[in-house]
Order: sequence, then structure tokens, then C-alpha cells
Amino acid sequence: MNDNDQPDNQGQGSQTPDTTPNVEQEPSEKYVARLHGVSKRFGPLRVLHRINLEFERGKTTVILGPSGTGKSVLIKHIVGLLKPDQGEVYFNDVRVDQADEQTLVEMRKKIGFLFQMGALFDSMNVGDNVAFPLVEHTKASPKERAERVSQVLRQVGLGGLEHKMPAQLSGGQRKRVALARAIVLEPELILYDEPTTGLDPIRSDVINELIIALNKELGISSIVVTHDMASANKVADRMLLLYNGSIVCDGTPEEFRRSDNELVQRFIKGIADEQDLDSIRSGFDKDKEGQRSAAQEPPKLWPPKQNSQPSENTDNNNLTNNDNNQQPEQ
Ligand SMILES: Nc1ncnc2c1ncn2[C@@H]1O[C@H](COP(=O)(O)OP(=O)(O)OP(=O)(O)O)[C@@H](O)[C@H]1O
Ligand SMILES: [Mg+2]
Repeated sequence: MNDNDQPDNQGQGSQTPDTTPNVEQEPSEKYVARLHGVSKRFGPLRVLHRINLEFERGKTTVILGPSGTGKSVLIKHIVGLLKPDQGEVYFNDVRVDQADEQTLVEMRKKIGFLFQMGALFDSMNVGDNVAFPLVEHTKASPKERAERVSQVLRQVGLGGLEHKMPAQLSGGQRKRVALARAIVLEPELILYDEPTTGLDPIRSDVINELIIALNKELGISSIVVTHDMASANKVADRMLLLYNGSIVCDGTPEEFRRSDNELVQRFIKGIADEQDLDSIRSGFDKDKEGQRSAAQEPPKLWPPKQNSQPSENTDNNNLTNNDNNQQPEQ
């Protein structure tokens, strides 16, 4: 689980030669991003409640949690797109929640953000989409830009597609173009918001492999928000489950699988909440109840029926009378 402050390594030379085990690392060296006591509300809605989190440099951390629980809100705090009501947010040693615009602009060059809706500029071709951050934030010449664009497109497996328009691409290819754009400035950290949503399992796996390659080959730290457990299990060094404003589980994928926390098990197995099921069932029961009582009503004498069969369903709804035992569909 949380491996802060490990006091072990007394011996020398047992670790990689360039580490100095007796020297305490600064938090900003060890962690690429940190949240201390972060709370966030939107009006009456409490989204984050005193969150303490540290994201280790060079690792891939996956944030899980039901829809609407605040995963996107949480990662938007790391790039300063949202400010906390309380608490502190750090990227390296930059205090993000207090940073001025200029500091935020500088800081954001080091963070790639793959947005949930993955928006590309539809009127620009792939090459121009990917080059956009270079135009905005660097003095690279057109030739240098073209070389860099070509390099990152090759890295995401789309070499040579510079002149395609976004509308000519599949959903998976668009995500990869968005990813190429997110890495074009060589970020230290990439925030992926639902990178595989809407993709079939094979295309999702291409994205998973890219997340792993960017982490292992280029040493980029990653924070991945996802519902996709196959993806989470494949890419995560560490998983977090966000629920009701708090982190309710924090551990390795293996620790999640072994967790006896009911919420964790329900989430990773995709089992619906009993309360939600009850409300669905009671909705169906009410329909059936209505149907049954209509069927059991004594036949009306007026207006007279031409085909008088009291057990038939005679009201105007479109249920057949043989489906009283039908189960609600999942
Ligand atoms: N800018 C905003 N203003 C008001 N409410 C917001 C804002 N951004 C998010 N919310 C609300 O905060 C809650 C958490 O939203 P968030 O987008 O973080 O959910 P999520 O966990 O990412 O969900 P999903 O898995 O569906 O993407 C939601 O109820 C959402 O409506
Ligand atoms: Mg979201």
C-alpha cells in the first residue's frame, strides 16, 4: 500500500549504484504530484473531501470509481483547471492551487492531458493537431515541428498520417492522435481521462500498450482515470478507488483483487449496488402490480364488450398477459 518513508535500506551498495540511501528524498523529488487535504464542492454537492494523495514519479497510478464520483475533478486539480476550496496541490515543487497564470502555462508544458472527450480540432489535419502545442509553446521552426510530429505519430503507431483529417479516422486512431498531441512537448506526467472508453477490446489494448510504453520507454509518470478493469489491471502499478469524496482503497492490483472491502469487490467485478437493484426491481414490480390489478378487476358491465373474456388484459398498455413472471432484463 502506501510506501511512504521506508526506513529499511541501512546497507550500502545493495541498491542501484547511483542512489544514496541515507539521504532523505525531498517529497517533490519522489512524487510528481501531491494533494494535501483537498476538498472541493460545487454548490451543495461535495465532490472531494480532504483528499491526501501522493503520485510517485515514474509510476502508473490508476484512479477507479463510479461515474460522477469526482475522478475528472480530481485530476483537473493537478493541472490547475480547478482550484480546491481547501487544501494544497503540488506538481513537483510548484504550488498549483496558488500559481499565477504564467506559472500555470509553464507547468502545463510538462503535463500531457488526454481529455475524457479527447477533442481534436476537426478543421485541422492530424499533423496540425499534433503540432499545435509546439506552435503555442515553443519557437521550433516548421521543419523541426514536422520532424517532431512525425516522430510522435510513429510512436503512437500512426506514422505518415499527418495529412488525414480527424473525420477520416476511427475512434481508436483519434485517441492516438490526441495522445500524440499530449506527448509532443515531452511531458513528465500524462493524465489520461478514460483513455479506452468507447473502444473495442483490441483498440483498447493498443492504448494500454502505449500507456505502458510511454511509461517504461520514456519514463513518463502516468495517472489514468478509467472504468475499464482490463485496462486498469494491465497498466497499473497502483490503484485507487474514489468513492463519496474519499479514497476508500489504495494498493496494488493484487491487493485490490484480494481486498475484502465489499465496495472494492463490487466495483472490480462490476456488480450493481443492492439499493440501485431494489429501486429497479420495485419499478418493475409496480408495473406488474398495475397489470395484475387490471387483470383481476371484475369485468365492467358498461360499456359492453364484444368479446367478453375477463382474464384477458383489456387495458390499453402494451404488456401481454403471459409475462407476469418475466424477469427484468439486466
Ligand atoms: N465545473 C463543474 N461545475 C459543477 N459541477 C461539476 C463541475 N465539474 C464536475 N461537476 C460535478 O462533480 C461531480 C463529479 O464529476 P466528475 O466529472 O469528476 O465525475 P467522474 O468521476 O469523472 O465521472 P465519469 O466517470 O462519468 O466521467 C459530478 O456530479 C459533476 O456533475
Ligand atoms: Mg470523468
